[in-house]
Amino acid sequence: MENISDATKQFIDLRRHMWMAGIEVDLRRLIWQIAVTGKYISSKIQESNRKLAGFENIYGEEQLALDRSSDEIIKQQLAFSGFVRQYASEEQDSIIQVGKGGEKYIVTADPLDGSSLVDTNLAIGTIIGIHRESILTGGDKSLVAAMYVTYGPLITMIYSAGNGSHEFVLNREGEYVLSEENITLGERGNIYSIGGLRKDWSQEHLNYIRRLEKEGYKLRYSGGFVPDINQILIKRGGVFTYPALKGTPNGKLRLIFELQPMAFLMEQAGGMATDGRQSILSIKPETLDQRCPIYIGSKYEVETAKLFLEGNTTTI
Ligand code: F6P
Repeated sequence: MENISDATKQFIDLRRHMWMAGIEVDLRRLIWQIAVTGKYISSKIQESNRKLAGFENIYGEEQLALDRSSDEIIKQQLAFSGFVRQYASEEQDSIIQVGKGGEKYIVTADPLDGSSLVDTNLAIGTIIGIHRESILTGGDKSLVAAMYVTYGPLITMIYSAGNGSHEFVLNREGEYVLSEENITLGERGNIYSIGGLRKDWSQEHLNYIRRLEKEGYKLRYSGGFVPDINQILIKRGGVFTYPALKGTPNGKLRLIFELQPMAFLMEQAGGMATDGRQSILSIKPETLDQRCPIYIGSKYEVETAKLFLEGNTTTI
């Protein structure tokens, strides 16, 4: 597809963009329907009184009423879509049948990532993966599209169906209009986002972070995966990491619900995502709730992380 000029972008809404990109009709209808749930979820966030509801999810984490209602909104929308046979959500302990069985797609969701930040009024988001084959045994070709919605001062949505990563902004008329086409990361950026306590990092990871600090990287960490990844994409470079920690060697973030979709979007923007050794998209999940260390962002920072973690460099 030819690059769209800045003057024309405001006239390109999500449906038109996907049609122009030649995405198959069922997939583009599904992406559009999921993008619509972003509007419903953002209304719920605005209506909420930001109080914890006192539930726990399957990971033993506090769960907001908002997490539950966002999950329900997505599940209902998918059940009526006619394109989805199964739904897997971070808020549910097993895969749910939402279709008749013969539908093309399986959808994964982290319905409201970073929801504990709602009371602080920081940005939060919804992360979606769209698979053709089983999410556990489908292999690295199973993921055919990914998207996320950011609920911040603006509501934005980034999607890719293997045609690059593109950003849309929800306008006052309730339409997602094109704002950034074919987001392309530079070879390197100048920001880093790091999770986990320093005292629990491995020596290799600590050396890597020291290298970034020596090179003048600026710290950017909000505690929300969506806005932190969004910052790297929109600023065209940098790295986010939530490493293996002493006591929790698989880190914190979930492979299926959080990492795979973001890795897909990052790679489509010319970036990379690894667990420090292998590419995130090549890892075959064994369980739904599998966690995994992550280094994701522009090439230089992720390649450098690999050098440190594989023990091929110790030079800070
Ligand atoms: O997985 C949930 C999440 O809130 C992510 O959105 C975020 O990147 C991470 O956890 C923050 O973890 P921590 O509070 O340990 O920094």
